[in-house]
Amino acid sequence: MRPFSALDRIPETPWLDKPASALRKTVFKLLGRRKPRDVLHGVWLGHPLHPMVVQVPVGAFLSAGVVDALPHRGRGERRAAESLIRVGLLASLPATLSGATDFAHGHEEQQRTGLVHAVANGIALTSYLLSLRWRAVGAERAGRAAGWAGLLMTTAGGLMGGHLSYHQSTGANHADAVPHIAPDGWTDLGAFDELPDRIPTRRTAGEVPVVVLRDGTALHVLADRCSHASGPLHQGTVSWSAEGSPCLECPWHGSVFRVSDGSVEHGPATAPQPGFHARVVDGRVQAVVRHFPGVPAGG
Ligand code: FES
Repeated sequence: MRPFSALDRIPETPWLDKPASALRKTVFKLLGRRKPRDVLHGVWLGHPLHPMVVQVPVGAFLSAGVVDALPHRGRGERRAAESLIRVGLLASLPATLSGATDFAHGHEEQQRTGLVHAVANGIALTSYLLSLRWRAVGAERAGRAAGWAGLLMTTAGGLMGGHLSYHQSTGANHADAVPHIAPDGWTDLGAFDELPDRIPTRRTAGEVPVVVLRDGTALHVLADRCSHASGPLHQGTVSWSAEGSPCLECPWHGSVFRVSDGSVEHGPATAPQPGFHARVVDGRVQAVVRHFPGVPAGG
């Protein structure tokens, strides 16, 4: 058995669903509106917010641990360690809120690991609060011990956060492969007249499922599997942005993409949906994936 393969058992643990569901409901109660959720997901950045903001508390807590480990610690070092812990605790607020918002839009097995990640981080924060308290009353050794316990739990929480991202693809772009696996040339998607107006329709370009939206004479083609967590966009609903652009809302967690270019209107997705160029030739719809300049599609 490899050192960290036991972490793969966490997503296979159904009894975690009950507390995870309670946490998810609490998050939705606190963050019921879409706008703050979009901010916390990182839609405005075009990148998940959580992995960026966790750097500050992790860095501050690690630095406090290093200062606490110095052999000759005077008043200055003690104050530095306390200040670093305070910075870490303050910076944990945006990290916690953004992480909780991402957690609430995950699959069940992701939420199981997310719950354990949250508990580890919760114990870490409690340890740091105790550490500050004990330092304030002169119990320096207990304060340092609590700080190191906090650092240990921060590391455990970070390990599970990495597992969530790398093994369970939480926050990763689930449509990233489309420009590589879609055919390199124009592909037939069927007769234009057979497409219902303003109703998303599933077709396949080679092996790649795509969603086609006909809007009058205009045609839009996007990859069908949502960049957030692979939801089927052809089962989604059509809406219009404030500027009047047609959009598709994912049926799984409500991400909204502009069909003209796949850009994200609302999260939880932060990565745009891969798009296709579309045309009609002799009454037949054809599409070709928009691939990266200089990188051929189809391989
Ligand atoms: S799969 Fe989550 S919003 Fe589409």
